[in-house]
Amino acid sequence: MKATLVTLTLSLALVTAAAFPFERKGASASGGAAKEKRVQYAAWDDVNVIAHGLLQLGQGLKEHVDKTKVQMRDISTKLKVFNRTVTEMGKESQRLQVEGEALKVRARGLEDREGQLLNVTAELREKAEEMQQERRTMGERMSRLEERVDSMLQGAAGRPEPHTGAKNRSDARSIQLMLEAQNRRIDDLMERIRLQQEKLDKQNVRIRTLQSQIQSSRQRNNLRSSNGSAQSGVTEQRDSPVEMASDCHELFLRGETVSGIYTIQPKNAEPINVFCEMTADGGWTVIQRRQDGSVDFDQLWQAYEKGFGSLNGEFWLGLEKIHSIAKDGGYILNINLSDWGDDVVSVRLPFQLGGEETKYSLQIPEAGTFSTLESSLGTDATSGLPFSTHDQDNDQKSDTNCAQHLSGGWWFSNCGRSNLNGRYFQSPPPKQRHQRKQGIFWKTWRGRYYPLKSSVMMIAPAVIENKS
Ligand SMILES: *[C@@H]1O[C@H](CO)[C@@H](O)[C@H](O)[C@H]1NC(C)=O
Ligand SMILES: *[C@@H]1O[C@H](CO)[C@@H](O)[C@H](O)[C@H]1NC(C)=O
Ligand SMILES: *[C@@H]1O[C@H](CO)[C@@H](O)[C@H](O)[C@H]1NC(C)=O
Ligand SMILES: *[C@@H]1O[C@H](CO)[C@@H](O)[C@H](O)[C@H]1NC(C)=O
Ligand SMILES: *[C@@H]1O[C@H](CO)[C@@H](O)[C@H](O)[C@H]1NC(C)=O
Repeated sequence: MKATLVTLTLSLALVTAAAFPFERKGASASGGAAKEKRVQYAAWDDVNVIAHGLLQLGQGLKEHVDKTKVQMRDISTKLKVFNRTVTEMGKESQRLQVEGEALKVRARGLEDREGQLLNVTAELREKAEEMQQERRTMGERMSRLEERVDSMLQGAAGRPEPHTGAKNRSDARSIQLMLEAQNRRIDDLMERIRLQQEKLDKQNVRIRTLQSQIQSSRQRNNLRSSNGSAQSGVTEQRDSPVEMASDCHELFLRGETVSGIYTIQPKNAEPINVFCEMTADGGWTVIQRRQDGSVDFDQLWQAYEKGFGSLNGEFWLGLEKIHSIAKDGGYILNINLSDWGDDVVSVRLPFQLGGEETKYSLQIPEAGTFSTLESSLGTDATSGLPFSTHDQDNDQKSDTNCAQHLSGGWWFSNCGRSNLNGRYFQSPPPKQRHQRKQGIFWKTWRGRYYPLKSSVMMIAPAVIENKS
C-alpha cells in the first residue's frame, strides 16, 4: 500500500513538473496559437493523468481504511476477552484471599491449643518429678521405719515383759497404718496423673485430626491457585474434607463435644442421622430413649428393624442401624434407668448384635459372673438371644408369644427379666398386675412389676472404657 502511494505521489510530481514549464513558456511566448493549443492539449492529458492518479489514490485510501477498521474490530474483541479474564482473575484472587484468612485464623487457634498442651505437659512433668522426689524421701523414711520396727520386734522377743511388748506392738501397728495411708495417697496421685495423661492423649488425637484437615484444605487451595483463573467456573465439593465419621465416638475424637444430632456413616453402609451423647470420656451413639410415653413402642418387626420415633425425643434407632454400627464387634452397651424417685442406675455390658440372618441376636459374653443388676439382660444372652415382636415370635417360651403377652419388641427369652420397650405408664401405674407387667421393667433393680420412669440405651467402642 505504501509503495503504491509513493509511486503515485512521484508520478504526480513528475507530471506537475512537466506541465509548468509549458505554461510558463506559453505565457512568455509572443503568441503562436497552434503552439498554445498544443500546450492546452498537453495540459488536458496531464489533468487526465492526474485525475486518474487521484482516483487510484482514493481507492487505495479506502482499502486502507477498510483494512484498518477490521483490524480495530479484532483488537477491541481481544481487549474485551482480556478484560473478562482480568475480572475473573480478580474475583478468584479475592476468594482465595478470604480462604487464606480463614485458614490463618484456624492455624492460630491450633497454635494456641498446642501452646496450652505444652504448658500442661510441662506442668505434668514437674508434678511427676515432685512425685518421684516424694517417693524417694518416702522410701528412705520407710526403710528407717522398717529398721525401727525390726529392732522393736527383736526387743520385744528379747524382753518377755508383757506390758512393754504390747506397747511396742501397738506402736508397730500404728506405723503400719501410717504406711498404708501413705501408700494409698501415692496410688491416688498416680491415678490422677494417669487420668491427666489420658486427657492429653485425647487432645493429641484431636489436634492431629485438625492438622490433617488443615493440610488437606491447604493442598486444595494450592492446586486451585496454580491452575488459577483458566477455569473459574468449576464447582467443587466443600465441607467434606475427610470421610464421614463411623460413629459418635469418632466424632468426639474429631473435636465434637456437644451432644445432639449428627450424621455418621458406618462402614459399608449408608449415612444415617443419630443422637450423640458426648461425655468427658467419649461419644456414645444413643439407640433407644424412653422418657415420657410420647411414642408408641408396641410396633411390629419391620418398625423395629428400621427404627421409629424422634431422635430429639423418644425413639428406637432400629436393629439394622445398630447392627451396621456395631457389626465389627468390640462395642459396649450402656443402659441408664431411672425410677419415679429419680434414683438412677447404669448397666454396662460388652455385646455383639448379629444381622438379620440371626434375627438380630444379642450376645453378651460372660466374663466371670454377672452382677445381680447385669443379670436381667446378661444371663439369658450369653449364647445369643434373637429379637422378637408380635409378628415374629423368636423367644424361648414355646407356649407363649412373649412380645404379645408383654408389649413391644425385645430380646425375650423365657419372656425374661427385662423389657425396656414395654408400655410407658405414668405415675401412679395401674393397680392390676396383668397390666403393670406390660410396662418397662428391669427385674433385678426395681422388680418385675415396677414400671420405670426412663431408659436410655447407648453404644460405644469398648476403648472408651479403657481406664486401666
Ligand atoms: C472491563 O470490564 C469492566 C467491568 O467488568 C468495565 O467496567 C469496563 O468498561 C471494561 N472495559 C473494557 C475495555 O471492556
Ligand atoms: C503457658 O504458660 C505461660 C507461663 O506459665 C503463660 O505466659 C502462657 O500464656 C501460657 N500459654 C498458654 C497457651 O496458655
Ligand atoms: C520398745 O520397748 C522397749 C523396752 O520396753 C523400749 O526400750 C523401746 O523404746 C520401745 N520402742 C519404742 C519404739 O517405743
Ligand atoms: C489444571 O486442571 C486440569 C483439569 O482441570 C488438570 O488436568 C491439570 O493438571 C491442572 N494443572 C495444574 C498445574 O494443576
Ligand atoms: C447415664 O448415667 C450416668 C451415671 O449415672 C450419668 O453420668 C450420665 O449423665 C447418664 N447419661 C444419660 C444420657 O442419661
